[in-house]
Amino acid sequence: MSQGQLPPAPPLSCPEALHSRPQARQVWRLDDGQQTLVFACQDAKIPALVYWGAALPQAEDLGQLVAAGERDFTGGALDALPPLSLSPQSGDGFPGTPGLRLQDARGQPLTPRFIFHKAEQSADSLRLVCQDAAQGLRLSFHFRLFKATAIVCAETRLSANQPIRLYWLAAPVLPAPAQADRLIEFSGRWCGEFQQQESAWGQGARYRHNPTGRSGHEHFPGLILPLRGASYQAGEAYGFHYAASGGHDFLAETLPDGRRQLQWGQAQGSERQAGKRFSSAKLYARYSSSGLNALAQAFQRQVRQYQVTWPSGIHPRRVHFNSWEAVYFRHDLAELYAIASRAAALGAERFVLDDGWFKNRSDDRRALGDWSVDPLKYPQGLTPLIERVQALGMDFGLWVEPEMVSPDSDLYRAHPDWILGSAEQTLGRGQYALDMRRAEVQAYLFEQLAALISDYAIAYLKWDHNRILPYSDAGQVRGTHRLLARLRRAFPEVEIESCASGGGRLDYGMLRHTQRVWLSDSNDARNRAVMQQAAALFLPAAVTGSHVGPRRCHTSGRVVDMAFRAWVAAQRHLGLELDPRELDAAEAAGLARVIGWWKANRDWLMTADILLLDSPDPALLGALHRAETGERFVLFANKIAESATSAPLPLRLTGLEPHSFYRVELVNKEELEPLSRADLALKTGSLRLSGTQLMQQGLCLPWTFPERVWVLEGKRERGREG
Ligand code: DGJ
Repeated sequence: MSQGQLPPAPPLSCPEALHSRPQARQVWRLDDGQQTLVFACQDAKIPALVYWGAALPQAEDLGQLVAAGERDFTGGALDALPPLSLSPQSGDGFPGTPGLRLQDARGQPLTPRFIFHKAEQSADSLRLVCQDAAQGLRLSFHFRLFKATAIVCAETRLSANQPIRLYWLAAPVLPAPAQADRLIEFSGRWCGEFQQQESAWGQGARYRHNPTGRSGHEHFPGLILPLRGASYQAGEAYGFHYAASGGHDFLAETLPDGRRQLQWGQAQGSERQAGKRFSSAKLYARYSSSGLNALAQAFQRQVRQYQVTWPSGIHPRRVHFNSWEAVYFRHDLAELYAIASRAAALGAERFVLDDGWFKNRSDDRRALGDWSVDPLKYPQGLTPLIERVQALGMDFGLWVEPEMVSPDSDLYRAHPDWILGSAEQTLGRGQYALDMRRAEVQAYLFEQLAALISDYAIAYLKWDHNRILPYSDAGQVRGTHRLLARLRRAFPEVEIESCASGGGRLDYGMLRHTQRVWLSDSNDARNRAVMQQAAALFLPAAVTGSHVGPRRCHTSGRVVDMAFRAWVAAQRHLGLELDPRELDAAEAAGLARVIGWWKANRDWLMTADILLLDSPDPALLGALHRAETGERFVLFANKIAESATSAPLPLRLTGLEPHSFYRVELVNKEELEPLSRADLALKTGSLRLSGTQLMQQGLCLPWTFPERVWVLEGKRERGREG
């Protein structure tokens, strides 16, 4: 398009304008002291993010900055570089994937021509609005900066005068820097969540499509872009989390001219009905100049401080006992009483009755949807069990899977039309999903759950979702979120855990309504240690459930020592999920000791920042949990395999004050092995070391077997410089 054809530029509404071409360019900046974002609108087109990185001086001339970022082009291309805007448009000759694809209500493709309309800015937010008056469309981009965490929250909204069909709406499209040499993504499966996957940037697109109807085990909606040389402890990096609970698509694309774009949106085609208003989910993002740990710390704090609504504040997080791997569907009151007493004696404070408590639920093929207590297993309802549990000093939690229905259920017999998809679809775990878009389904579920919560002293719901959906439908997740929001309003003191066959739905969309996620169905401590390390980039300890499982892990078949099981669970929100009657005296004592340690420390541990260590030994995963005040920390060094070297390599700590002194001491000295032969000071006493020493030279921990954890406490001593 030549300059002559451009629509007249709108009046300037921005704080700063380019001097050389008045009226043609507008710019805005957002600052949080750690990072700056600069947006520019050129010739009334859709604005673009033109700078995102370290905080710029306030005096930076943004016109000059934009001019410096302009790129040349050569033959074989259009006469202007099509903009990589917040929503690149195919109509502009954009040589990559557009950020928006839509049709009119009859299915004819629409090619909007948006022009910039207006901007609204406050100290920590920016709204940029574009419109296509001729086609009655309005596209707006919303940015909010959380200054305390330096997290940017971005969202795209689209509205239309007439109903339209939306195929793809990307959250504000962000450019990726040329210096980013890798993409770190997260894949997974049942019992194998948070598998870190690295790939190199190349020409063309890397695309992930998640049509499962859940944020999913397979495609956790997170991304880390490290710049060359970045690690946990140093270097530049960008982090992203797309807070969609119902499946999403992700695109990382290098254009032929070398520019790179990142797009996130709800899974393509999941808006199944024509409508007039649409929005992306919220995209959370941050830049860091001090390694991946600054991202981890920011995301963890974002969840703790802004995302989760805590019933009565975050404290105290109770020690859970969960009945699943103890009894499965075999609910026998006498047995449950015996188990509850042992769990309480070990230190449990919440008894969660998992699947199997409702009418006809003898296995996982039936009864979902009929949320009344099984009169055979519980002839007097749940009250006797709850009273017993309470007498033992625990509160009571209950498992539910509200969005599902079994073909063999009264609910399905009464309302076969309430399911999502056709009756002939392939079932998942023998069940259908309910159509959560229907108001009557939401109303039914609210009544069922409200009745349970009102009839019984229920402090906690474990909310499961055990199948992928027959197709992805954005309306489905809106219905679920609406139901959750209504329940939270009606019962603000009841906590909810988000579970989906383990970690199949643990995104920030769900964390808006829930207070805990079930990271995985694998209670194998080795697998957990690996998952927990990767998940810490996005999830704080306070919401990440971690349970001590049976001696022989039910999902991996491996036999795991009690000390390893207990210390790995103690690194997050601790719980037990085993039959405590299987414990021998030594195991019970060891477990009770770790639970006691956790309780004594949980107040600061559950609000600590988890900082990951650049371990020189791949067999050792290290993380330092630093109190918000900085006055103390605990280092967990998880030995997950045999090391290549005969002696342990020094582990450099992180996040400490260089000139403060810390008293460091091994907590679990009783776990020293005779094969560890040197006379290390840490084996018998403590050490007093500066932050600089701990972060530069590091610590040499004692030799140990695989599947062990060293737990080392550090306390800052009064007075700096010793
Ligand atoms: C899957 C969950 O992840 C398990 O923890 C357990 O609650 C079962 N569902 C119950 O059916």
